[in-house]
Amino acid sequence: MRTEKLLAPSILSADFSKLGEEIKTAEEAGADIIHLDIMDGRYVPNITFGIPVVEKIRKTTDLPFDAHLMIVEPEKYVEDFIKAGVNMISFHMDATIHSHRLVDKIKNLGAKAGVVLNPATPVNTLEEIIYYIDYVLIMSVNPGFGGQKFIPQTLNKVSKLKNLMKETGREDILIEIDGGINAENISKVSKEGVNIFVAGSAVFKGDIKENIKKLKEEMYVL
Ligand code: DX5
Ligand code: ZN
Repeated sequence: MRTEKLLAPSILSADFSKLGEEIKTAEEAGADIIHLDIMDGRYVPNITFGIPVVEKIRKTTDLPFDAHLMIVEPEKYVEDFIKAGVNMISFHMDATIHSHRLVDKIKNLGAKAGVVLNPATPVNTLEEIIYYIDYVLIMSVNPGFGGQKFIPQTLNKVSKLKNLMKETGREDILIEIDGGINAENISKVSKEGVNIFVAGSAVFKGDIKENIKKLKEEMYVL
């Protein structure tokens, strides 16, 4: 059984006037992955940042970059994101027409491919694509904004996904969770079997080092 546990701070809640410094602080404190929330104002009602910012921050850290694309027609941009230094890319299946083709494209360009489930998207939408992907991102809030409250029912999807992974022989898939994760709930979420924990406000609001230390302590409690 896979027991990998990785913390992925989302820079959405960082201070953008000193983004590089905040990423370095997060890395020194033990962050495992940097989560990049890419929003286009169409798939979600918010706009964040794009490829030029990713190119710049790539120089500040050796940690893997995990781009969560909340954009329509993600297939148009994955190549540029990967060239800018992104190592993992996830997309929402209802934002593209040919999900399988897109997964192939991401993998052929040398990155890991993931698909995202919104709170109302059932696990069984993965029944066919599961054979091809590297990870699944379960949204525990509605995508679009940081600092929202964790939706507890979304956690039920972890065991459903684990069943599907077993049935399809894909127990190597990593499970990522995103939204409202904090030091109070991360241990419970971890016990369900989640591997990658995205946290924005719980990392970047207040003392980054202290926050990461606390989250990592709680994350490993099994
Ligand atoms: C929401 C984003 C999340 C968000 C997490 O659309 O996908 O990654 O930044 O932020 P917190 O941890 O503050 O809920
Ligand atoms: Zn995200």
